[in-house]
Amino acid sequence: MKFIKDDFLWGGATSASQIEGAYNIDGKSLTLLEMKEFKPLKDRTNNHFKITDKKEFLKSIENKDGLHYPKRFGIDFYNRYKEDITLFKEAGMNVYRMSVAWARIFPNGDDQKPNKKGLNFYKNVLNECKEKNIKVMVTMSHFDIPYSIVEKYGGWLNRKTIDLFLKYAETLFIEFGEMVDYWLPFNEINMATWSTETGIGVFESTFKTKNERENASYQGLHNQFIAQAKVIELGKKLCPLAKFGCMVANITTYSLNCNPINEIENLTRQQKTRWFFYDVVARGKYPTYIKRYFEEENINIKMEKDDLEILEKNVVDFISFSYYMSATVAVEEGEQTAGNLIFGGKNPYLKASEWGWQIDPIGLRITLNELWDRYQKPLFIAENGIGVLETLNENNTVDDDYRIEYLSEHFKQINEAIKDGVDVFGYTMWTPIDVVSASTNEMSKRYGMIYVDYDDYHNGTGNRFKKKSFDWFQNFMKTKEL
Ligand code: BG6
Repeated sequence: MKFIKDDFLWGGATSASQIEGAYNIDGKSLTLLEMKEFKPLKDRTNNHFKITDKKEFLKSIENKDGLHYPKRFGIDFYNRYKEDITLFKEAGMNVYRMSVAWARIFPNGDDQKPNKKGLNFYKNVLNECKEKNIKVMVTMSHFDIPYSIVEKYGGWLNRKTIDLFLKYAETLFIEFGEMVDYWLPFNEINMATWSTETGIGVFESTFKTKNERENASYQGLHNQFIAQAKVIELGKKLCPLAKFGCMVANITTYSLNCNPINEIENLTRQQKTRWFFYDVVARGKYPTYIKRYFEEENINIKMEKDDLEILEKNVVDFISFSYYMSATVAVEEGEQTAGNLIFGGKNPYLKASEWGWQIDPIGLRITLNELWDRYQKPLFIAENGIGVLETLNENNTVDDDYRIEYLSEHFKQINEAIKDGVDVFGYTMWTPIDVVSASTNEMSKRYGMIYVDYDDYHNGTGNRFKKKSFDWFQNFMKTKEL
C-alpha cells in the first residue's frame, strides 16, 4: 500500500525532562518531575502516576539518602543533541517535536531576565534542525513546571502563573520565533484532571476530599486554558507565520457492548475525558455537559470577567493529540488494564503491550474521523508508539519487528483516514529515541527506533544504536510503501 499524501510531515517527539539531563547545569532549576524518585515496578500493568507524599518531594531537594531521580539525567541529550539530531535526519524525519524546559529559561519562575545559557542551548538545537531542514514543533510546557513556581505561587492554581507563563512564551517567540513552525503551549492539557502534580503543579497528597481535588484540578485547568488562549493571541502578533495548536491525550473508549446503559456511560466518559478539552480550545466555549457536571458535583471555577471572551477569540489553528491505545467502558466494570493516563476496561479483540496498553490501530482512524467531523480543523498526531522491554543483541541492535508492525499498522490507518477525507497533516512518533518514561520513570520502557545504553539507574555508556525499526522507517520515508 502506498501512503497517498506527499506533503505529510513525518517525524518524532520528545520532551525536555525525559531526554535532556543536566538538571542543574548552566543555571537550570529543579522541576517537580525531577523530584520524583525511581521505584521499580512490581506489576507493570497496574502502575500509574502513583501518589507521592509531599514530604518525599521535598526530601529530594537535598537527597541525603542518595536516591535516584531519573528525570534529572534523561538520556544526556543536553550534551549529545548533535549526534541525536543527525540520527533523526538519517532516519528521514522531516519534523521534530521537542519541548523547552521553562526552568532553563526562567529558573526562579519570576526572574526579570531570561537565562542566556538556557536560551543558547535551545538556539543550538533549533539551528541544528534548521541546517538539516527539519521542521520544528515546540511544546512550551511538557509537564515540567519549575519547582520555584510551585513553591512560591502554588502552581497553576494561582492566576499569577498565567502572567509568568506569558512572559516565558513571549521570550520564546522573540528568541526562537523564526526557527519554529508550530507551537503547542501545553502537552496533554487534560493531564490536570489525572495528576494535579504533573498537570498543574499542585501536590496530590494535600487534598482532603475528592471534591477539593476536583475543584483544584478544574481551576488549574481553567487557568491553563486562559494561558493558552493568551499565548495564542500574543503568538499570532509576534510570529504571524507560525501555527498554534493544542495537545490533548486522546483516550478513545468504546462501550463494552450494545447495552444502551453502557453506551451512555461511554458517551459521558468521552465527554469528560476527551471532548471537553477539545471543545474549549477548538470551539472556544465551555460545553453544556460539563456545566451540568460542575453543577451536580459542586465544582465552582473562579473566572475573571473577560475570561470567556478570551477563550472564544483565541481558538487553536490546528488540533494535535497523542494516541497510544483504546479501552472499553461499562457501568459494571469488568477487568481493567492500564493505558495512557487512564485505567480502562479490557477489550477481548485487542492485544496489549507489557504495560497493559491495548493496541488499536483502527481506533486511530476512528479518532481522526471523529475529530475532523467535530471540529473541521487540521489534525496532527503528536504522539503514538509502543513501549517495550528490550536489550541489544549480539549485533548491537534490536530486532523490533513488533514496533515495525505497530507503526506500519497505524500508518495504514492514517492513510485510510486521509482517503475518508480527513485533513491530517503530520505524525510524530513517541519517540524516535529511547527516553525516560513519563509515568513510570523507567528507562526500560523503550519506545525508540534508536536504542540508548542506559538502565533504570542511568548506568551505561549512553551510546546510541539503531534498531531494526530505524531502517524500516528510513526505507518508508524513501518509498512511502506500507
Ligand atoms: C504521553 C506523554 O502521555 O505519553 C509522554 O506526553 C509520555 O511524555 C508518553 O512519555 C508515553 O508514556 P510513558 O508513561 O510510557 O512514558
